[in-house]
Amino acid sequence: MRVPLIAGNWKMFKTKAEAKAFAEEFKELYKDTDIQAAICAPFTDLELLVEEFKGTGIMVGAQNVHFADEGAYTGEISVSMLEEIGVDLCVIGHSERRQYFAETDETCNLKLKKLFEGSIRPILCVGESLEQRDAGQAEAIVKGQIEADLEGIAADDIRKLIVAYEPIWAIGTGRTATPEQAEEMCAVIRECITALYDESVADDVIIQYGGSVKPANATEIMNQPEIDGALVGGASLKAADFIEIVNF
Ligand code: PGA
Repeated sequence: MRVPLIAGNWKMFKTKAEAKAFAEEFKELYKDTDIQAAICAPFTDLELLVEEFKGTGIMVGAQNVHFADEGAYTGEISVSMLEEIGVDLCVIGHSERRQYFAETDETCNLKLKKLFEGSIRPILCVGESLEQRDAGQAEAIVKGQIEADLEGIAADDIRKLIVAYEPIWAIGTGRTATPEQAEEMCAVIRECITALYDESVADDVIIQYGGSVKPANATEIMNQPEIDGALVGGASLKAADFIEIVNF
């Protein structure tokens, strides 16, 4: 059984003081909610958020990790560093990292494999650009990402995977995919995982939609049968907006 998961992705927003103010407000608002929620935050906020959300059920995620155990990789953070502070989730392959920081399907695959050696669940982001969609390539692009990113990963690990379908043209643009477009691509992702593994494995994978999700459109997106959650950027920065999405 898949439990819906609404995750915030703060990107490079919020100092520790700002994160603390959000956490204090959000955990009060979240008290009577039974939908699973998470915040994926900058590295510097993670330890504080883990402390703040202890006992609330709200999960905490990083937005990137390195695939090596340790080493001379200036500026990078390892899986064990995240595990030590109690992080639950880690975003992998966000389109901003693919676009600005040379993240490739190959590095995504290595990062997923390293996370699956431990206890942190990945949120793998995939999605096509507007150019690719207009050229009728959306399905092929997303399938190609899924196949490459999951290569060589065991079925039992895939059951713990979270995938976020994030069309690049809908991120931070205010232009949301229609619920039908989002549903169609989430179904393509589940079919692709079924083909690579089997239906029982694909049935366990949480598939989120991300791209300009806000309180006004969360319900119609979450009502789609193949969509099990949302990855929310801009609208996760204010506790009052984010709780409305969590309570879709
Ligand atoms: P957005 O970002 O909700 O601000 O469009 C989504 C994301 O990048 O995960």
